[in-house]
Amino acid sequence: MKAMHDPVRVLQIAEKAVREAGALMKEKAGRPETVETKTNAHDLVTEVDRRCEELISGRIREAFPSDFVLGEETVARHGGIRAVLDAGIDHLWIADPIDGTTNFVAGIPFFCASLAYAYRGTIQVGVIYHPHLDELFTAVRNRGAFVNGQKLAVARTASLRDSILATGFPSGEFHRAVNARGLGQLIPKCRNIRTMGSAALHLAYVAAGRITGFWENNLNPWDLAAGALLVSEAGGRVTDTQGGPYTLAVSHVAATNGLIHEELLRHLREASATGLE
Ligand code: IPD
Ligand code: CA
Ligand code: CA
Repeated sequence: MKAMHDPVRVLQIAEKAVREAGALMKEKAGRPETVETKTNAHDLVTEVDRRCEELISGRIREAFPSDFVLGEETVARHGGIRAVLDAGIDHLWIADPIDGTTNFVAGIPFFCASLAYAYRGTIQVGVIYHPHLDELFTAVRNRGAFVNGQKLAVARTASLRDSILATGFPSGEFHRAVNARGLGQLIPKCRNIRTMGSAALHLAYVAAGRITGFWENNLNPWDLAAGALLVSEAGGRVTDTQGGPYTLAVSHVAATNGLIHEELLRHLREASATGLE
């Protein structure tokens, strides 16, 4: 089927999927049976990540049997992210079954399920579910962003000096060092910085106006797709760290309320922390 799915139906399915995954991860938090490393010692996966992804993909397949799911735990089977993004898939779902696995394993209740639906490469629907607070963040393109049905708007903070920023540390050593440079540069320039361990929730918090801006290098489409739509639908700005437009292929990201965006990018450039050098 070539036409775009009805976004209301997509949202219903997405909500059901992330709520079910959320219930499972909440139940298993701090006590997964197997913890394995993937690319290196910073990169964890558990049987719960895999089960949550199966659960999410299953819900999507029941409703839309011919759609494709780009999921963190199964992407390797499909030749990697680039191969999937280049395949020209009409109906693409992008799933991070647990965003914040390190927190999940440690029993720190700050992790979520993140799911987006893109039609011909443009994200149309995004949902992020934080089970411990029972917060469901939702966005539909051109229809706004919400948390538990309440409309979201980004913070009105006009300067970096009054901003709370967030960042994170991806698994690759090179990009951890790049992000650390950004952190060093920005700590004296803003009110404070948070690194709470879930890129998707950081983005949802930018959309909710709880934090003013977020940046991180070397993320993947499943970390970003739903949250990027939330931020733009809440009136914020999402670009790569050089200021280029956000697409599913972007991995070095800056997402803010818009008002502090240029200031944030300027500091990242000054600290050689844009990830692209
Ligand atoms: C990670 C989290 C973390 C971020 C890492 C991501 P995962 O995702 O979003 O906050 O700093 O870069 O890889 O591995 O828990 O899905
Ligand atoms: Ca993730
Ligand atoms: Ca994950």
